[in-house]
Amino acid sequence: MTTWETEKRWVVDSLFLLVLQSGGYSYFFSRLTLCHISFLKSLYGQENLNGGTAFSGDPDSLTDFIAPPNATVDGSFFTFTGFGFLVNGTQLPADKFKVVKATMAEFPALNCQSVSYATLLFPNGTTNPPHTHPRAAELLFLVDGELQVGFVDTAGKLYAQTLQVGDMFVFPKGLVHFQYNAGTSYAIALSAFGSASAGTVSLPGTLFATGIDDAVLAKSFKTDVGVIQKLKAGLAVKP
Ligand SMILES: *[C@@H]1O[C@H](CO)[C@@H](O)[C@H](O)[C@H]1NC(C)=O
Ligand SMILES: *[C@@H]1O[C@H](CO)[C@@H](O)[C@H](O)[C@H]1NC(C)=O
Ligand SMILES: *[C@@H]1O[C@H](CO)[C@@H](O)[C@H](O)[C@H]1NC(C)=O
Repeated sequence: MTTWETEKRWVVDSLFLLVLQSGGYSYFFSRLTLCHISFLKSLYGQENLNGGTAFSGDPDSLTDFIAPPNATVDGSFFTFTGFGFLVNGTQLPADKFKVVKATMAEFPALNCQSVSYATLLFPNGTTNPPHTHPRAAELLFLVDGELQVGFVDTAGKLYAQTLQVGDMFVFPKGLVHFQYNAGTSYAIALSAFGSASAGTVSLPGTLFATGIDDAVLAKSFKTDVGVIQKLKAGLAVKP
């Protein structure tokens, strides 16, 4: 963020904190005119200010783009070449699921642009385990093979589909979802995200590879500590 952006964010943040701490936010929101709201939205980005207090979208930029300090900004800055392996004859991974990302971390020009991309590579029989993206919906386009996909809504309902080449599927923001190549050929998908940094929370890793106490997990999964330790061992990073 530029200095001005950091400052404006600080001013707006302090204002909200003050209002929320004073408990007067319903009064505060009731006094807002549409113009105030659109002004605050322009300061704050895509957040829901219609009487709510949830702020979870990427902030909008007040500048055309944001470059890291001292970066050379030319055509190359806005170009990402990391997906070239798809077309330049590189051998694709043969046994493991692999994701190649083009998010703000790999492609700094995406900062504040609210978009990013990923290439998903599925040798037959591999899966992208259940996970969520806390900051964005995902729009998956299947460019090769066949792919089973699904997500579960907050009511616990599963929405599943077997995609054919050329099909597109949307995983709503924040919901648990997965992909599985049950076919006999390679599957390749491209996914677009409505955030420069959608974030990934993998359920197996988050639950069983972050040091959550065995007893907590055993009670949560209605099993015993031995089973939990087996699950943890399977997910431990191999040297
Ligand atoms: C940017 O360049 C200036 C002078 O070349 C240097 O003093 C400064 O530390 C650099 N800043 C960063 C963040 O690299
Ligand atoms: C193929 O593209 C990748 C980037 O996706 C690059 O790292 C690699 O060096 C390229 N290989 C050849 C042979 O050009
Ligand atoms: C992948 O498909 C090939 C045939 O195309 C088959 O020989 C192999 O067993 C399959 N592997 C898995 C894991 O399904």
